[in-house]
Amino acid sequence: MKGVILAGGLATRLYPLTYATNKHLLPIFDRPMIFYPINTLVKAGITEVLIVTSGPHAGHFLRVLKNGKELGVTHLEYAYQERANGGIADALKLAEDFADNDPITVILGDNTTDADIKKSVDNFKDGALIFLKKIENKKELSRFGVPEFGEPDKSKVISLEEKPKNPKSKFAVCGLYMYDKHVFDLIRKCTPSARDELEITDVNNLYIKEGKLSWEELKGFWSDTGTFDTLYAANKYWAKKAGI
Ligand code: G1P
Repeated sequence: MKGVILAGGLATRLYPLTYATNKHLLPIFDRPMIFYPINTLVKAGITEVLIVTSGPHAGHFLRVLKNGKELGVTHLEYAYQERANGGIADALKLAEDFADNDPITVILGDNTTDADIKKSVDNFKDGALIFLKKIENKKELSRFGVPEFGEPDKSKVISLEEKPKNPKSKFAVCGLYMYDKHVFDLIRKCTPSARDELEITDVNNLYIKEGKLSWEELKGFWSDTGTFDTLYAANKYWAKKAGI
């Protein structure tokens, strides 16, 4: 299993914080944000990592991460997405050569979690695996991908909707996924969404159509940092966990 961290985008919602650097290098308590997803991968035994980035501050990653050795990464690669707002699936396209037919664990660079995913990594065989987290607040939930569960088999995800106005369940799709080598063929089948992005949700829906998508509930803390609220919440959580 190899790891891919998607750390591109312009993060305009976090201006002025992101005028001068990439969002994923902003601090979460005492470390740059990207250290957290790297740690999630390394803890799970994934030490070959590709970072896909974009935008005007892409060069900063090299200065912060160097060759990744200090963080337990044995092989670190970088890829540059030309369209910073091309979407998650567009960024993931760039991982095809790196993956070289191996399965991959993909984490969005702004997702921090203390969940231990080692078991899931070790058990992963093929298809796609997504992680879900319960969110009671409907407005909050509408910022994410949201699954619809089957009837009567409630354990089965039958579709995923990106940022639905009326979510069909109380679960958010976390920015943490495992894919087999077919993910790149499925990305090629996708077309840009209404917000002109190649959506990871469309890729996951293609896996559902093939009956090859499974899910697990993510245990522990999970947050993205797309907004000032969630950036603050993530900082607060990790500082508290460190005893501050
Ligand atoms: C992306 C995905 C969404 C997922 C979220 C998790 O949203 O498209 O399905 O729930 O990450 O952080 P975005 O960050 O593009 O708003």
